[in-house]
Amino acid sequence: MTSTSQPTALITGAGRGLGLALARSLLAGDWRVVVDARRAGHLAAALPGALVVPGDVTDPAHRDALATAVSGLAPTGQQRLDLLVNNASDLGPSPLPRLADVPLAAARRVLETNVLAPLALIQRLLPLLRASGGTVLNVSSDAAVEAYEGWGAYGASKAALDQLTAVLAAEEPGLAVYAVDPGDMRTEMHQAAFPGEDISDRPEPDAVVPALLRLIETRPPSGRVRAADLAGTTA
Ligand SMILES: NC(=O)c1ccc[n+]([C@@H]2O[C@H](COP(=O)([O-])OP(=O)(O)OC[C@H]3O[C@@H](n4cnc5c(N)ncnc54)[C@H](OP(=O)(O)O)[C@@H]3O)[C@@H](O)[C@H]2O)c1
Repeated sequence: MTSTSQPTALITGAGRGLGLALARSLLAGDWRVVVDARRAGHLAAALPGALVVPGDVTDPAHRDALATAVSGLAPTGQQRLDLLVNNASDLGPSPLPRLADVPLAAARRVLETNVLAPLALIQRLLPLLRASGGTVLNVSSDAAVEAYEGWGAYGASKAALDQLTAVLAAEEPGLAVYAVDPGDMRTEMHQAAFPGEDISDRPEPDAVVPALLRLIETRPPSGRVRAADLAGTTA
């Protein structure tokens, strides 16, 4: 059962980790939610009510399918998109290579996934986002601003995503546009960054979701934010 008054979100990379946790919370809050992941066989059961579109964000045909799915949730003329979350991300090779050794094909793949795919989805979905005065939430990282050895390709991609976010905010004042550093989380990507290490002291991604929901609900001025700084703010 859908209603045109229900807000609609598209979250990329919701097969696990932060994307899955955020999708669960939005569904519980009565949002309509479209999600993707390359490995999506488990998602119909994991996210009852979500519209699951399996695929790779770097694939233009898949991005078309995502846009079609968003539009298909409501009758013609009543389509809406209130929130685009560019969360799907590529870390690059594990263990993380130094810049001297990073294969260019891997660096290109990181940039395609973390920068160009979000840009392409933004371009594709801007008409709906403008119509709703919607929110774009690009998931960044502290690696965008800190010079960690081994994190060069991924960090450069997140720095590019941050700048893309800042320029989009300047160009689209009717939207709320955020680059969000979620902080360390106990996820598959984080384990790949620290292979063989015990990461059980890192928080679960669910712990970050309340800060993201607060951001979406309160719509402070566009910009780069750290989830840890939002954690104590009131809605
Ligand atoms: N975990 C941390 O400590 C940490 C810290 C700072 C920032 N972040 C950022 O937080 C976000 C979420 O990370 P996470 O730790 O939750 O990662 P995660 O657990 O590895 O989950 C990533 C999700 O994205 C999907 N995905 C990856 N590449 C994709 C592609 N090309 N097309 C479609 N889906 C794709 C994955 O599914 P498939 O592999 O099946 O496609 C998976 O569902 C990312 O933007 C990451 O850079 C994470």
